[in-house]
Amino acid sequence: MDAASWDERYRGSELVWKAEPNRFVAEELGGLKPSGRAVDCAAGEGRNAVWLAQRGWEVDAVDFSAVALEKAERLAADQGVRLRTMHTDLTLWAPEEAGYDLALIAYLHLPWPQMAQVLPRAADAVRSGGTLLLVGHDAANPERGYGGPQDPRVLYTPEQVADLWRPYADILRAETVTRPVTDAEGNSRAALDALVRAVRR
Ligand SMILES: C[S@@+](CC[C@H](N)C(=O)[O-])C[C@H]1O[C@@H](n2cnc3c(N)ncnc32)[C@H](O)[C@@H]1O
Repeated sequence: MDAASWDERYRGSELVWKAEPNRFVAEELGGLKPSGRAVDCAAGEGRNAVWLAQRGWEVDAVDFSAVALEKAERLAADQGVRLRTMHTDLTLWAPEEAGYDLALIAYLHLPWPQMAQVLPRAADAVRSGGTLLLVGHDAANPERGYGGPQDPRVLYTPEQVADLWRPYADILRAETVTRPVTDAEGNSRAALDALVRAVRR
């Protein structure tokens, strides 16, 4: 989806995603001592960026949807925190090297050649000792999970992501994880997510 399509989607409803952080983001980063600057790549309406800011991180929220970033700013204001929003296409993003202590990528799904450009840049943007976290819909989700994009070209495995980060970082976790969800009929289902956590060398 291009930026205009995302703008359209975000314009269509109050909050497309919830205001609460993604469960894996909260689980993985909740124990991390807030220690400086964080970047949320593809921040959307800011649920994760705002949560990080509430915990004491100084957060840059990057997204190419202006509508999403306006909503993220509103969510931040409602929660009494500040975000720096950056209206940027991540495929063209040129972050300062080692400028961040934490980089988060949650549910960014681009064709793999574009992901393969973005992921090393995110690693480059983090200082030595800093944390990298990616959570996204797993490549196995269409067949064995529920919801999310069905196009295999925009899905990935934890191993694919870890392979790209390994030259830059020590991989702490690279796993397919299960997220309980409720379908339209109210039934409990399980979505499969790819989770990769790494520490920048
Ligand atoms: C599924 S949403 C996830 C939002 C947020 N990370 C979350 O977990 O709530 C995907 C986001 O990626 C953004 N996005 C997609 N392609 C992008 C690109 N090339 N550059 C910047 N943002 C992009 C979209 O605008 C959208 O906000």
